[in-house]
Amino acid sequence: MSERQNRPIGIFDSGVGGMTVLRALLRQLPAEEFSFLGDTARLPYGTKGRNTIIEYTLHAARRLVESHAVKMLVVACNTASSVSLPALRVQFPDIPVVGVIEPGARAAVRVSPKGRIAVLATEATVRGGAYVEAIHRLNPEAQVVSRACTLFVALAEEGWLEGEVVEGVVRRYLADIFAAQVKPDTLLLGCTHFPLLQKAIARVVGSDVHIVDSAQTTAEAVSIILKETGLARTTPALPAEEAVHFMATDNVSRFAATGALFLGRKLSEEDVELVDI
Ligand code: DGL
Repeated sequence: MSERQNRPIGIFDSGVGGMTVLRALLRQLPAEEFSFLGDTARLPYGTKGRNTIIEYTLHAARRLVESHAVKMLVVACNTASSVSLPALRVQFPDIPVVGVIEPGARAAVRVSPKGRIAVLATEATVRGGAYVEAIHRLNPEAQVVSRACTLFVALAEEGWLEGEVVEGVVRRYLADIFAAQVKPDTLLLGCTHFPLLQKAIARVVGSDVHIVDSAQTTAEAVSIILKETGLARTTPALPAEEAVHFMATDNVSRFAATGALFLGRKLSEEDVELVDI
C-alpha cells in the first residue's frame, strides 16, 4: 500500500452535524482513517454570507490538508458545500474534494416517484440554489420547492429531537407546503442536522412522503472516488474508536456531548483535540 493510500480522509463541518456523514462513511469504509474537523467557534454557517462561508471553509480545509496530509476532502456541511466547492478545488488541486449537494440530489431523484421534491436546508443553502440546480440537472422536469428551516439546527444542537415543541416548529415551517394541492412526494434533508429530527418531521408530513438525506449517497460517492483514484486503503477494518481523529475549534465538551448524539455512540471530551484555524 502506498504512503498516499495510507493517509486519512479529511471531513469538515461547521460543527458536529457532519457526524451524520461520518457515521455513514465509517460503515461504508471500515478500513479508512478519518480526520474530522468541526468549526464550532464559527457555527452556524447557515445564516452567514457567501464570502464569509468560503473564507471559513478555506481556513478549515487548509488545516486538514497541511497538518493532517489528508488524501481527500469531504465537505459534510451542506452550507459550505453549496458555496465553497469551486474555491476549494482551485486551492487544493491535488486531492479530490467531495461535497454533499450532488449526492443528496441524487438520493432524492432516485426515490421520488413524481419528481415533486421539497428541499429543507439553511438560509444560505436555500439562497444559493445549489440543490435546485443539482436536482434539475438529474431531472429537468422535477418540481422543487425549498424552505430554510433555521430553528432545526438549534433544536438538534440542543438534543430536542421529538415531542410537542419540535413538531410545532416543524409544522410552522412545513404546513403550507404540505397543505398545497400538489404536495411533495419526497423531502430532502439538505442540512447535516436535520436527519436527527427525521421522526418528528415524518410525523408532521405523513408516512407517504419519502425522506432522504445525503449521508449514505455521499459515502457511496467517496467509496467510488477512492477506488477510481487508487487511494483506497487495502488493510483490514479498524476498530471504530481508533478510526477517527476528532478536532473542534471551540468548546470540546459540548462538541463531544452533541457529537455522541449524531454519531450514535459514546464520545468523550478527551477524544477531541481543541484546534485553532
Ligand atoms: N452544517 C450546516 C449545514 O449542513 C448546518 C449548521 C450551520 O448552519 O452551520 O448546512
